Amino acid sequence: MALSLMVNAGLMALPIGGCLGTLFGIDAHRAATGQRPLFAPNPNDPDENRGTGGSTGGGQDSTGGGSGSSGGDVSDNGIQTNPYCQLSYGISPPSKNGETFTLNPNQWNVQKGSDKGALCMNVTTFNNMTYPTKYSAPDFSVTWQFDPGPETDPVYAFPNIMVDKVLPVGLDDMQELYLNVHWTYGVGDEIATTTDESELTANNVNTNVAIDMFFDSDKVTAQSSTSAKYEVMVWFGMFGPATQPHGYPKVVTTNTINGTKFNLYSDKNANTDQNVLTWVAAETVEEFNGDIYPLIADLYNMTGSVYPSSTDYLGYFGFGSEAFSADKNVTFGVTNLEIGIKT
Ligand SMILES: *[C@@H]1O[C@H](CO)[C@@H](O)[C@H](O)[C@H]1NC(C)=O
Ligand SMILES: *[C@@H]1O[C@H](CO)[C@@H](O)[C@H](O)[C@H]1NC(C)=O
Ligand SMILES: *[C@@H]1O[C@H](CO)[C@@H](O)[C@H](O)[C@H]1NC(C)=O
Ligand SMILES: *[C@@H]1O[C@H](CO)[C@@H](O)[C@H](O)[C@H]1NC(C)=O
Ligand SMILES: *[C@@H]1O[C@H](CO)[C@@H](O)[C@H](O)[C@H]1NC(C)=O
Repeated sequence: MALSLMVNAGLMALPIGGCLGTLFGIDAHRAATGQRPLFAPNPNDPDENRGTGGSTGGGQDSTGGGSGSSGGDVSDNGIQTNPYCQLSYGISPPSKNGETFTLNPNQWNVQKGSDKGALCMNVTTFNNMTYPTKYSAPDFSVTWQFDPGPETDPVYAFPNIMVDKVLPVGLDDMQELYLNVHWTYGVGDEIATTTDESELTANNVNTNVAIDMFFDSDKVTAQSSTSAKYEVMVWFGMFGPATQPHGYPKVVTTNTINGTKFNLYSDKNANTDQNVLTWVAAETVEEFNGDIYPLIADLYNMTGSVYPSSTDYLGYFGFGSEAFSADKNVTFGVTNLEIGIKT
């Protein structure tokens, strides 16, 4: 019984489950342009702004410059981890490294006060604002649990880290899209040392680990998740039958980057009329270090208008995990992350 419900959910989920952007990207765009997120809580509501665990919260301003990670003297070398449990606004820790990022629990499909589950994101920041390399992002983790949602609407959240400031970038101008990441997924409230897929399966965990990007021939439209002509994703993990990309299981082409083989799936998102192109690692890959620009360049040579061209713009880049459902709390941990959009 439970299994057949799950399979049903998987089939029904396809049109929605494979597309990350529809709602959160609007907020990404609004954040990028200095507006309050659409789904922002009432700033006067102390519950929403506080987070949990006695965090000093903050960050209710999406351009807030990490005011949430208060308490440290910026001249020291302290490291602190703060939890953020709000539904929709991001925090932007200050960094002297050059690149800056906005981290957002982004529970875009969770109603305030819902009893279907919970999600909190922990963000680890350096008080001296000086991270190991030019492209380093803060480490973060996400602990969550949600009961299965309606079959037609199974995704609750896309907690993610978004690249600020450097976008939009013309695809022709990009020399390299460097990614160095180590993540794990595990059952429980701690960051797992490795991902035990059989344990995830046994606990009915439905989720993915993904890069989400939007492209368009217009550089402003490229920043809009709803209007951009193309959504291009790269998935490093895909768990549970409810979690499948658009066009699955028909593999359009493959490419191997530094030993990791990726399969391309392609289809339209009927809701937004967007072309959704998803590269999915043939096997779960927790540690990846390489240039993923070839996964974009490959698309230029594909025939048909469903594929972007080198004259288009990249308007949004985020990395995170879509939270569908799980029997128990699970933790997505990112213990190393560098993103280099090199022009
Ligand atoms: C900043 O703090 C981090 C974390 O403690 C430390 O590893 C790093 O060396 C510090 N950098 C500088 C320039 O002080
Ligand atoms: C499960 O995760 C939620 C969200 O992070 C957290 O609030 C809750 O305390 C966790 N539950 C248990 C039993 O640890
Ligand atoms: C997240 O932060 C909370 C509060 O500081 C802490 O209790 C919890 O252990 C952290 N979770 C992880 C996975 O580090
Ligand atoms: C391939 O991955 C290894 C191990 O992480 C890394 O040291 C190396 O720089 C990567 N090579 C390329 C070409 O990205
Ligand atoms: C795309 O096609 C051009 C022209 O045939 C070729 O030079 C280039 O290497 C191809 N790129 C990829 C990524 O296949």
